[in-house]
Amino acid sequence: MFTGAIFAVLFRAAVAIPDALTANDPFRQGTPASALVNSGAPAAAASAAPTDTTAAAAPSAVSVNAATGAGNTGNAASAAAAPASAAATTATAAPAPNGVSKVAFKPPADDTLPDGPMGDVIRRGQQIFLHTGTYAKAYVGNSLNCVNCHLDAGRLAKSAPMWGAYGLYPAYRAKTQHVDSFEDRLRGCFEYSMNGKAPPYGGEVLGALQAYAYWMAKGAPAGEKLPGAGYQALPKPAQPPDYQRGLAVYSAQCALCHGANGEGTRSGDTQVFPPLWGAQSYNWGAGMASVKNAAAYIQANMPLSRGGSLSEQDAWDVAQYIDSQDRPQDPRFTGSVEATRKQFHDGDGSMYGQTVNGKLLGRNTR
Ligand code: HEC
Ligand code: HEC
Repeated sequence: MFTGAIFAVLFRAAVAIPDALTANDPFRQGTPASALVNSGAPAAAASAAPTDTTAAAAPSAVSVNAATGAGNTGNAASAAAAPASAAATTATAAPAPNGVSKVAFKPPADDTLPDGPMGDVIRRGQQIFLHTGTYAKAYVGNSLNCVNCHLDAGRLAKSAPMWGAYGLYPAYRAKTQHVDSFEDRLRGCFEYSMNGKAPPYGGEVLGALQAYAYWMAKGAPAGEKLPGAGYQALPKPAQPPDYQRGLAVYSAQCALCHGANGEGTRSGDTQVFPPLWGAQSYNWGAGMASVKNAAAYIQANMPLSRGGSLSEQDAWDVAQYIDSQDRPQDPRFTGSVEATRKQFHDGDGSMYGQTVNGKLLGRNTR
């Protein structure tokens, strides 16, 4: 399936990325979305798929609820969401009976970033968010960046946007059995999603990320779950998620960018497309290692720039496939996979400790 033409497109996409990182710099205002690498690359790759010529142009389901600011950082996800952002309005609505507001919240645009010391810290937080392995290197143990799972610099609805998260803490979390502050929550994503170490309380990294989220949530009501906050709750699939069907979806829709072995795509030192499993991915304790979270994220956001295009069944199947692969050990590992599963993974939708294709998941990891 990898014809020369597809390689050529991918190659062009790949070599364009280093520029994209600069284009992705939030402080460059007014760059047309089409010029931004993160949007250009995936669109090119998507249009290389013979069956889907309209993919890049089709408004994605993500954009329906999208809350993106004007002049934002412009990755592929935001490009897809752009048409809807004009319609998004700042949240003023009273909470609906179920506690969820009806009107989409619109985070502030980058050109409203304040000057002075506060602005400097917010900008620092944004840089850490986009290039975590560079600006918070000591706390990162894989090739991921926050923005890989919290798309459009943490703005995109249904990808756990920072404006939707900030006002929800402190909160009791079953995972920690503790009332977590926002700092605690940030530390969790470092330990699990980034397979790293939790940065110290009150330190530069957490302070900057917290300032960034605080700024992005400006005007959002506190203590209320806004539409598009978190990941969408995907209804249970008609058929139980299936590894083999997931493999077929993966090969057809994902491998082009994320690699046949889930290793992602690199161009020199730059991780162009992030890894989905293996040593450089999120670990077994991460939220994304739970099939239901992965299915929800994938259905709303993947394939990149075509969020909403997969059927719910396909999203569940491919999530099952990805989350049935080897990845770094759960940092809470007790010494026994069975005991670790019992203590932390029974009922969390994770495949940890299950046997798939004769292999016990969680065993062959460090
Ligand atoms: C591999 C994907 C992934 C990466 C990388 C990642 N996160 Fe997350 N993050 C998640 C998932 C999944 C959740 C939701 C988990 C859940 O619902 O249990 C989450 C939740 C959060 C939340 C709480 C959101 C809410 O609505 O309550 C914050 C804040 C957060 N992440 C910040 C970060 C930061 C900062 C980084 C980078 C240091 C980061 N994340 C990296 C996947 C990721
Ligand atoms: C056109 C290239 C492309 C295709 C095709 C694609 N992705 Fe992605 N994917 C990306 C990029 C780029 C990111 C990171 C987004 C960002 O940083 O803005 C990503 C992020 C992810 C993440 C979260 C980050 C991580 O590494 O865990 C998951 C999970 C994921 N993709 C799954 C899938 C699945 C499943 C499919 C197929 C249904 C798919 N992707 C198809 C480009 C692609």
